[in-house]
Amino acid sequence: MTKFIIDTDPGVDDAIALVLARQEAYPILGLSLVAGNVHLETAKTNVFRLAKFLGRKLPIYLGSPGPITRPLETAGEIHGQDGLGESNLPYEDYPVSGEAVDFLIRSAQEEEDLCIFALGPLTNLALALRKNPQAFEGSRLIIMGGAYQVKGNTSDLAEFNFYVDPEAADEVLRNFPGDLDLVPLDLTSQCIFSKREIAKIARANPAMGNFLESITRLYMEAYAREEGIEGCYINDPMTLLVYERPDLFSYERLAFRVSCQEESRGQLLRRKDQGAKTLRIYYKLKEKEILDYLVEAMSRKSDQGGNQ
Ligand code: RIB
Ligand code: CA
Repeated sequence: MTKFIIDTDPGVDDAIALVLARQEAYPILGLSLVAGNVHLETAKTNVFRLAKFLGRKLPIYLGSPGPITRPLETAGEIHGQDGLGESNLPYEDYPVSGEAVDFLIRSAQEEEDLCIFALGPLTNLALALRKNPQAFEGSRLIIMGGAYQVKGNTSDLAEFNFYVDPEAADEVLRNFPGDLDLVPLDLTSQCIFSKREIAKIARANPAMGNFLESITRLYMEAYAREEGIEGCYINDPMTLLVYERPDLFSYERLAFRVSCQEESRGQLLRRKDQGAKTLRIYYKLKEKEILDYLVEAMSRKSDQGGNQ
């Protein structure tokens, strides 16, 4: 049976991914937290907020408070200073289960069939690979990151997760020994999640509708300002959908590295050297089917016994 870890910097779209993952289909071993959209402590508080809303306390493992070599750059202007759209959701603390890098390595060693969703900067994954690369030979890693043939969202050339820690992104894309999938902005920018979908969800599940409205309000305002769209991209949930519904996506197999040069930091670059390990990069999706699937998945109550 496949077991899951979600490496995350919650963030609004991370939160939507965590809501999607509340279903039985995802036996989650734990969440490894990484600084990105928000500082690590805020990421932890946001997991407490989501745990209270979902009625499910997922094990938390604390990861890196910042990139491997660079100062942290956060994304409060997109996700709100609290990382969840200034929604001020209530929470209760609970004990952290341990440290993220050792948790990732231990889980990869113990689980025959491990799938890791990487939703933030790849700092934790890079540090785990440095410490024990062989551990991950049988694992799958599905990454949200990169901008290949579209404009970046943090610089013209780079997507946020890869911009924040380009060294980590480059090391992971080069060295991950298992099965690797990349979900870049090229893909996620083809699907706009809007107030229409939230209204449909709210009719079937009012509490979920209120939750989504409260965390996405500022996020959608940022997308209107920055991207000129009515709605938002749901970057992180797309990694789970690639896993659950591969029939709704197209990919090709290519090899990549990530630039660590200052002027192009975080840029996703094709590798053409012989023997370079390829990954699946997703480049096309079926938007209507995906939105219908999301609405259905978020309308129904959890089968995990939580509140939502
Ligand atoms: O560029 C989008 C990605 O960066 C998403 O994972 C978002 O949550 C931020 O982490
Ligand atoms: Ca994220």
